[in-house]
Amino acid sequence: MSRTILVTGGGTGIGRAVAHHFADAGDEVIVTGRRPGPLDETAAGRPAVRPLACDHTDPAALTALLAELPERIDVLVNNAGGNTDLDADDATDLAAYARAFRANLDANLLSAALTTRALDDRLAAGGAVVHLGSIAADHGNGAYGAAKAGLASWNIGLSRTLGPRDITANVVSPGYIADTDFFRDQLTDERRDHLVAAAAVGRAGSPADIAGTVAFLASPAARHITGQVLNVNGGTRGTR
Ligand SMILES: NC(=O)c1ccc[n+]([C@@H]2O[C@H](COP(=O)([O-])OP(=O)(O)OC[C@H]3O[C@@H](n4cnc5c(N)ncnc54)[C@H](OP(=O)(O)O)[C@@H]3O)[C@@H](O)[C@H]2O)c1
Repeated sequence: MSRTILVTGGGTGIGRAVAHHFADAGDEVIVTGRRPGPLDETAAGRPAVRPLACDHTDPAALTALLAELPERIDVLVNNAGGNTDLDADDATDLAAYARAFRANLDANLLSAALTTRALDDRLAAGGAVVHLGSIAADHGNGAYGAAKAGLASWNIGLSRTLGPRDITANVVSPGYIADTDFFRDQLTDERRDHLVAAAAVGRAGSPADIAGTVAFLASPAARHITGQVLNVNGGTRGTR
């Protein structure tokens, strides 16, 4: 039976791969993000993919999105996010620090919490919520890592709330994934080589690696997995 899947941040990188994976499997997929252009590219040639612009940190935008969404969502993939420090300005005063810290919390933690809350009464029994965390939660990486660690903690409570409704809630925590817009143009060759060498498998992850794991967590095979963080990092060791 075809399911309805919402993939936030589905215009690029991991979100696009997740959207294509579900659509190719026969599901109806809605992709969201702030920029319509990448969303249209994700949907191009795939009638099962519907693009809708939305900023998932903005309660008003989310409320408006609800009017465009179906009454039933089987799988919610809270993928929107990223390290907002990569887009920050050069200001160094305390107000700038607060602004930058809040931007990471908003993009990676509040966005998932707000989206899940907005959709709460549309999440269907037998369904799944999957968030994109990060290895940064374990390695420590400023406000970005703290936001992803907070996401994992918040998900534990969510799993208890949704469990009695037969809905699972998990975090997929990637290591270094190539072929996304995550690093903008700021990943040096040296840093990339270091990230690849840190993985036991000696290669970068791909968006398809993550899409396969998200699909597994949303599948009948994973109904007793909830409240977990699943590391998908090629064997890169965490620090805790
Ligand atoms: N690539 C990696 O190595 C890596 C590693 C660990 C974790 N992750 C996580 O994986 C997820 C996907 O990242 P990616 O690697 O695929 O990078 P990406 O290509 O930059 O994708 C992030 C997507 O999120 C969307 N987005 C960001 N803020 C948003 C907001 N407020 N509202 C709606 N959409 C928003 C962006 O679209 P718009 O700008 O158009 O809104 C973009 O399409 C992120 O949560 C990231 O933290 C990535």
